Amino acid sequence: MNQNEIDEAIQAYYSGEFDENARLTTRSAQGRLEFERTQEVIRRATPPPARVLDVGGATGVHAAALVATGYDVVLVDPVPSQVATAALVGTFKAVVGDARALDFPDDSFDAVLIAGPLYHLAGRDDRRRALREARRVCRPGGVVHASAIPRLAVFAAAALEPALLDADLDGWLDLLRVGTPVGSTRFPGGHFHTARELEEEMLASGIRDVTVIGLEGPGGFALESVTEVNEADYAAAIQLARTFAGAGHIRDFSNHLLGSGLA
Ligand SMILES: C[S@@+](CC[C@H](N)C(=O)[O-])C[C@H]1O[C@@H](n2cnc3c(N)ncnc32)[C@H](O)[C@@H]1O
Repeated sequence: MNQNEIDEAIQAYYSGEFDENARLTTRSAQGRLEFERTQEVIRRATPPPARVLDVGGATGVHAAALVATGYDVVLVDPVPSQVATAALVGTFKAVVGDARALDFPDDSFDAVLIAGPLYHLAGRDDRRRALREARRVCRPGGVVHASAIPRLAVFAAAALEPALLDADLDGWLDLLRVGTPVGSTRFPGGHFHTARELEEEMLASGIRDVTVIGLEGPGGFALESVTEVNEADYAAAIQLARTFAGAGHIRDFSNHLLGSGLA
């Protein structure tokens, strides 16, 4: 698919085919882990009160939680129905827009979360444009957090979603060599990263002092298949994630990568 086709597929996917609002909340215990780890990384880097831009913020799960604890948040997403759902929360501004051309002045936020756009953008130039925009609207010294899907995650996800195995050898080689998504699920993927590649793309976009972590850690995959998890198992998974977040040989085996650096 070229980027125009991916962008069209994103509209259909997030307007009805997939319930993004449930993903971080009720769909699986992995969602809780992803949500809590993302929130703790943002809060540690930029304590409230602070002004945060949530790019690709979907229905506003992160935005609502940040606002509830003293942040001032603006959400941007290209899917109008998701923005309408986010706007119903009523505690933050939600607007339709694209990560590649943000309609905000330079230096207007203390932190920018760009969690979603990078794995929906197939071309390196588009990803760099989105990262440069995140850096531009973030004040100097503010923090840009960018999430990506690691290539290895696809292999773990295939255990739960056999359609992901529907690729020939060339498909698997392309995934591991250059990050081209494989499989026949409806998820309109554009690019899957390695941790090093995410770091390099952020640095090339002018973001400084970049650290890339495995967000959920290897335990995140175990939580994908359950909605209810006992608290001891959950505590073990989050402890694994925190302990090995930056470990070079482990961080790529996580549901998501999260890169953080200074604007
Ligand atoms: C899997 S959701 C992630 C939602 C949320 N940020 C989170 O972390 O849970 C990916 C989001 O990226 C948005 N998105 C896709 N392409 C985008 C683009 N070019 N600019 C901004 N957002 C985009 C989608 O509409 C969708 O809401």
